[in-house]
Amino acid sequence: MTRAVALLAPAKINLALAVTAKRADGYHELRSVFATIDLADRVRVAPYRRLVVRIAPDVGAPPGDELAGRAVRVLAGAIGREPAAFVQIRKRIPVAAGLGGGSSDAGAVLRALATIWQRPDVDLVALAATIGSDVPFFASGARVAFVSGRGERVDPLPDPGETHVVIVRPGGRLATRDVFAALQSDDRGAAGGVDALRDGFARGTVTPRLLRENARNDLLGPAERLCSAIAEARARAAEHGIVLSLSGSGPTLFAVADDRRDALRITRLLRRTGLVAHAHAMGG
Ligand code: C5P
Repeated sequence: MTRAVALLAPAKINLALAVTAKRADGYHELRSVFATIDLADRVRVAPYRRLVVRIAPDVGAPPGDELAGRAVRVLAGAIGREPAAFVQIRKRIPVAAGLGGGSSDAGAVLRALATIWQRPDVDLVALAATIGSDVPFFASGARVAFVSGRGERVDPLPDPGETHVVIVRPGGRLATRDVFAALQSDDRGAAGGVDALRDGFARGTVTPRLLRENARNDLLGPAERLCSAIAEARARAAEHGIVLSLSGSGPTLFAVADDRRDALRITRLLRRTGLVAHAHAMGG
């Protein structure tokens, strides 16, 4: 019997994100290219007599609201088991940042439990959509994917090979719900960027330049209106010729570098302007 499963739960960035419609259920239809980066939480799941979720350091999720516990309950419910497991999460991904940290933990819990409970037959991506819109991508295990619908349709794309980005955290938290609620019709226009990236990945013709030219996000407008630090960070970076794009609903921003050296150069420049910046590789 499998005793415990330990996994890395990576952060994601949205290389491009288009909101195409508002749905009757209050959610929005999206088209986005997601990619993991080499910044990850550590998730360990073990069989246990009841459900325990330990998150360190404590990120202050309200009881019952953390996605990892919900993942245990959803999978257990789907296969008619008791929701009993010991889940330990070591957080490294900032919370409510647009990096999908909580969703990645939930995706990792689903994958670990399917192994422990020996249920490789369960469609984890479909179950994941009932936990949160970003969870299906992580449940799929893809490193890069074209994601559509509310987030429940995940089409994995070929890994582009070594690609380097710089992640910038302007400070502050943004609730995804608030950012979507502040979206106006003239914020839209990123769909062409999403399609260009999806096609580039599918054909294996992705370059840093293609990524930079198409890194558009329809949620940038509303996120900037709700969090002035985003526009300030982008303006500061622009003075040095660096374009910062928004990941998800923010506030995290990213720049696409030419290579690792360039990522370190951009990181140094941005830090000198007072921004919190870290170089990362895509994938991982
Ligand atoms: O699915 P999740 O719980 O992560 O979504 C948080 C909130 O973000 C939703 O309540 C909704 O207001 C908004 N959202 C949306 N359309 C999506 C994903 C999220 O409107 N595709």
